[in-house]
Amino acid sequence: MIWRKTGFVVVVCLLLGWGGFAGAADAVNGGKLYARFCQNCHGSDGAGQIPGAPDFSRGERMLRADTVIVDSIKNGMGMMPAYRGQLTTRELFDLTAYLRTLRR
Ligand code: HEC
Repeated sequence: MIWRKTGFVVVVCLLLGWGGFAGAADAVNGGKLYARFCQNCHGSDGAGQIPGAPDFSRGERMLRADTVIVDSIKNGMGMMPAYRGQLTTRELFDLTAYLRTLRR
């Protein structure tokens, strides 16, 4: 009886896509999004194309938890537009994983 219930819960979780959400962020997908949405200001190497943009290749502003970085991309900052509603939470985590690869 208990196994039947457990099986049901697992199936429901899979249907709701929780399995996918629990997976690691995808930096490759993040790189594609970066080229489309962020590169104009932040540069292909992350060093920054416009005054005031942080230098991700030196790890600037990256010494924080992923959730904090995701929130600041979501809300925008100074010259940077807010991406709330434009990118999904999943995509924001993918982008953050990609930003971490830019550090040289
Ligand atoms: C219009 C230019 C522009 C675009 C497009 C842009 N940014 Fe930014 N971004 C900036 C500037 C300028 C800052 C520094 C803002 C400040 O300190 O006032 C910044 C800051 C940041 C920060 C640091 C925020 C913090 O809390 O210190 C992150 C992370 C970031 N951008 C990621 C991204 C990502 C990811 C994208 C693409 C989805 C993106 N940016 C698109 C200009 C831009």
